Amino acid sequence: MCGIVGYVGQREAADVLLDGLSRLEYRGYDSAGIAVFENEIIKVAKSKGRLADLQAKMQKEGKPSGHAGIGHTRWATHGEPSDRNSHPHGGGNVTLVHNGIIENYKKLKEFLLSKGRKFESDTDTEVIAQLLDYYYEEHHGNPVEAIVKTLKELEGSYALGIVFADFPDRVFAMRKESPLIVGIGENECFIASDMTAILKYTKNYYLLEPGEIAVLSRQGAKVYNLHYQKIEKELKTADWDVSAAEKGGYEHYMLKEIHEQPESIKKTITPRIENGLPNLEECGITPEKLLEFNKIHIVACGTAMHAGMVGKYVIEKLAKISVNVDIASEFRYREPLVGEGDLVIVISQSGETADSLAALRLSKELGAKTLAIVNAKGSSIAREADMLIYTHAGPEIAVASTKAYMVQIAVMYLFAFELALANKKIDETECRRLTALLQGTPDKISEILEHKEMTQLIASELITADSLLYIGRGLDYALSMEGSLKLKEISYIHSESYAAGELKHGTISLITENMPVIAVATQQNLFDKTISNIKEVKARGARVVLVSRESYQPEKDVADFKFGLPDYEDLLMPMLAVVPLQLIAYYTAVLKGTDVDKPRNLAKSVTVE
Ligand code: M6R
Repeated sequence: MCGIVGYVGQREAADVLLDGLSRLEYRGYDSAGIAVFENEIIKVAKSKGRLADLQAKMQKEGKPSGHAGIGHTRWATHGEPSDRNSHPHGGGNVTLVHNGIIENYKKLKEFLLSKGRKFESDTDTEVIAQLLDYYYEEHHGNPVEAIVKTLKELEGSYALGIVFADFPDRVFAMRKESPLIVGIGENECFIASDMTAILKYTKNYYLLEPGEIAVLSRQGAKVYNLHYQKIEKELKTADWDVSAAEKGGYEHYMLKEIHEQPESIKKTITPRIENGLPNLEECGITPEKLLEFNKIHIVACGTAMHAGMVGKYVIEKLAKISVNVDIASEFRYREPLVGEGDLVIVISQSGETADSLAALRLSKELGAKTLAIVNAKGSSIAREADMLIYTHAGPEIAVASTKAYMVQIAVMYLFAFELALANKKIDETECRRLTALLQGTPDKISEILEHKEMTQLIASELITADSLLYIGRGLDYALSMEGSLKLKEISYIHSESYAAGELKHGTISLITENMPVIAVATQQNLFDKTISNIKEVKARGARVVLVSRESYQPEKDVADFKFGLPDYEDLLMPMLAVVPLQLIAYYTAVLKGTDVDKPRNLAKSVTVE
């Protein structure tokens, strides 16, 4: 939800800001804008639409030139996407960019209107700028004191990048819920919503904690708390390199990220395997601890929730412990039956998803122990959970999640193996065998990626459809949820996933020759049953795509297209079968000409509820 960047140093600030925004655009792309000190005067350039629209505008009207400034890429919350609602927003001495939502903005706006303040936009952000300017005047030009005073009034989530007209060589920043880092270079400093925006310039950064205020100058960054006391921060170093956040010759980030999956799995599981067995001790998880839990809940949103569905099947099958999977936005408001003795697993790529974070906090309040499975280092969910397993997918830039999902399920397997061994539902030999098979998945996935032509052919068949069904049973059903989401979010073709056995209880009435069905059938014990369901839809005219093992040869004419997967352990088939589903979605979107990496209306990191 919105990307923020800021710079002060010797470089041309507009170039640094635009480059940073190009890497943050995945967070929102309804509008973009920058504010730069040009000859000590703040110059603002902003435009509705993509960063490219802003760049085109600046080509005509001129690009502000100077060495300090702030930038923003927006995912609209308050106020439609338009030039006047684009950030930065100003109020007197103050110009700022904002990521998040101010819940009490109406009340604050009324107060400011009563003081004679005028507003130019419909945004909650302009209210912050006006309020900050109001307190800046009241505090006789002390920016940090004015920021402190303003923050005490704001309710909601926010990260801010601020410039004051009176301080042309400074950039100010602060965060509450929304993430923000301060990058430290040589004679230059940065702020950014995430590290990818500034990796090109520095790997050194401070992670701002909620309630901290940073003041950046060429000499470095000073950080204060809400009592205006200076804080010593630990300088961290990012372990990503620039190429991790670039396309590396691929047409889209999504395709690159699909291809990175074998490597991401290796990086995620290898450090957690010792002598052929899972070892999650460095994540705070020991066999003894695992035995303390009575119930397991998995809470997440979107793709991460689908990874939780796979986790449920695997944990229940191997460890014989019942697992509830919840959508975080439902969990947090339905008075969940969670308490002491329960384990709540929160899965999140960004670690900042508002509903997942709220679910984690609620679970802790209710007395449960929490385990986070998170990709983004230092994110809120990662910091607040009792136990933490980082996935090592590296930066995921495409809005449609692929490699993050893959490593989330890889972690679910490791966790399930360790749990099943701890409560003696499998023995050590079986645990070793399964762990070795998990370690074998990257090679199998690479094999699939080398033979992906069929997914292109299938995509060319799907582009004319208005609606699609994904069906499967057991683990294949869990997987078809993810296949369906992937397709609809980037190709804009409506699709739903259904448990194959459930079709005839209503949904089958939708089937016509215009509604293709993608059937996932990798589980040996369920194969014949799914084939029967396929025959039922086929008999009603559906074109059928079958994703199954290469070695399974259904009778002639059961499927119109088949993607054959290598033979592997049933339990681990989701890790293989998701790859053609991702590729089918990808190529369908490419053929339809949609913006694959930045599908409409979406943002990568959903930090509002
Ligand atoms: O960052 P998170 O994993 O918490 O995000 C959750 C969902 O917003 C996310 O998985 C979303 O569904 C994907 N971008 C879909 O591809």
